[in-house]
Amino acid sequence: MCRLLPNFILFLLVIQAFSSNCCIEHERDALLEFKAGVGDISNRLASWRGNNCCDWAGIRCSNKTGHVVKLNLRNTNFTFDDIYEDFIYDWNDYSLTGKISQSLLSLSDLKYLYLSYNNFSGNKFPEFISSFEKLEYLNLSHTGLSGMIPPQLGNLSRLLYLDIRYDLFSGYILNTQTWWLSNLRSLRLMHMSGVGFKESSNWVESLNKLSSLEVLVLADNNLTQFSHALTFVNFTSLRVLHLSYQDFYSPIPNWLGSIHSLTDLILEDCSLVSPYPATLGNLTSLSNLALDFNSLDGMIPPLHSLIN
Ligand SMILES: *[C@@H]1O[C@H](CO)[C@@H](O)[C@H](O)[C@H]1NC(C)=O
Ligand SMILES: *[C@@H]1O[C@H](CO)[C@@H](O)[C@H](O)[C@H]1NC(C)=O
Ligand SMILES: *[C@@H]1O[C@H](CO)[C@@H](O)[C@H](O)[C@H]1NC(C)=O
Ligand SMILES: *[C@@H]1O[C@H](CO)[C@@H](O)[C@H](O)[C@H]1NC(C)=O
Ligand SMILES: *[C@@H]1O[C@H](CO)[C@@H](O)[C@H](O)[C@H]1NC(C)=O
Ligand SMILES: *[C@@H]1O[C@H](CO)[C@@H](O)[C@H](O)[C@H]1NC(C)=O
Ligand SMILES: *[C@@H]1O[C@H](CO)[C@@H](O)[C@H](O)[C@H]1NC(C)=O
Ligand SMILES: *[C@@H]1O[C@H](CO)[C@@H](O)[C@H](O)[C@H]1NC(C)=O
Repeated sequence: MCRLLPNFILFLLVIQAFSSNCCIEHERDALLEFKAGVGDISNRLASWRGNNCCDWAGIRCSNKTGHVVKLNLRNTNFTFDDIYEDFIYDWNDYSLTGKISQSLLSLSDLKYLYLSYNNFSGNKFPEFISSFEKLEYLNLSHTGLSGMIPPQLGNLSRLLYLDIRYDLFSGYILNTQTWWLSNLRSLRLMHMSGVGFKESSNWVESLNKLSSLEVLVLADNNLTQFSHALTFVNFTSLRVLHLSYQDFYSPIPNWLGSIHSLTDLILEDCSLVSPYPATLGNLTSLSNLALDFNSLDGMIPPLHSLIN
């Protein structure tokens, strides 16, 4: 914490313009408890001492309130392989290990939580994350976390970005009569590749309320149904739909042609069969179509955006 002297308000205003914020004491304690729970052989958290937690590595506080709003401890020290991303756990000495302390719950104003490429294997999905009411960004990709995705995650109604790709999670789309995914109303990006869904017949219906969604990546999820009963969907903002490595054993559904905003449609290795739906021709913004490794034959309907 910084000690504030009320007499020197003008002085403080000047200081504030040049330094970062003061830390709230119980939030600092919560962060120290988190630090005590993790292994950090490369000493990435060396700056986590002293009073002003707002100056510590990976922490950002609000200029207005002093609350911690951002916690970014992703491990950036590795060479990312864009193409062979799947299930590469290239953790290294810069990965934090151990467990994610529930003490973080004290960070009541947290908007941004980014922990990728740390090795938290052996731990379950930190369920308490569902209580961060103000959370806008959650990235737990490549952390080795496992277990069920808590359906309470649906309480994060302000969430804009959800990335939980390539951990060892499993989950249900329908949880005791509620489609918890439907509650993530603000979501713009959802990347859940590698999550094993145990039942998946209504995944499209469950996501259909998310009209803000721009990017949806669900690959390698054990999805088996492609909801052929629907005629249209509400994805009015969707640009990227990536659904590779599923077991649909059915044709491409007609409703895909109702996503007029679509620019990228990736459906590789999904056990799709002929025929192509005529509605595909309605996708006038499409610039990238990938249908490799399916059992499709015959003519693709004219895709004018791709012909030119
Ligand atoms: C807070 O202040 C710092 C430096 O004074 C500035 O770089 C940062 O953008 C500000 N953050 C917000 C959220 O206004
Ligand atoms: C990243 O790792 C290399 C060794 O592989 C090390 O020399 C370098 O200091 C590390 N960089 C950071 C930012 O930790
Ligand atoms: C990741 O963490 C687990 C559990 O702590 C450990 O057994 C494993 O060796 C770690 N893997 C790497 C590559 O550090
Ligand atoms: C999520 O919200 C429901 C009510 O909508 C509530 O019963 C539940 O306790 C909440 N869960 C969490 C983790 O906040
Ligand atoms: C999540 O983290 C991974 C690994 O750092 C990164 O590649 C990805 O772009 C992040 N996702 C989002 C939505 O920012
Ligand atoms: C995915 O399906 C396969 C084959 O049906 C099954 O062996 C596997 O356990 C499922 N994975 C998950 C995470 O449910
Ligand atoms: C489209 O969204 C509206 C509003 O969320 C909803 O009432 C309607 O049921 C949705 N349509 C379908 C086909 O689910
Ligand atoms: C979509 O395509 C079908 C078949 O080509 C056509 O009958 C229909 O009118 C189109 N719908 C829209 C909304 O463009």
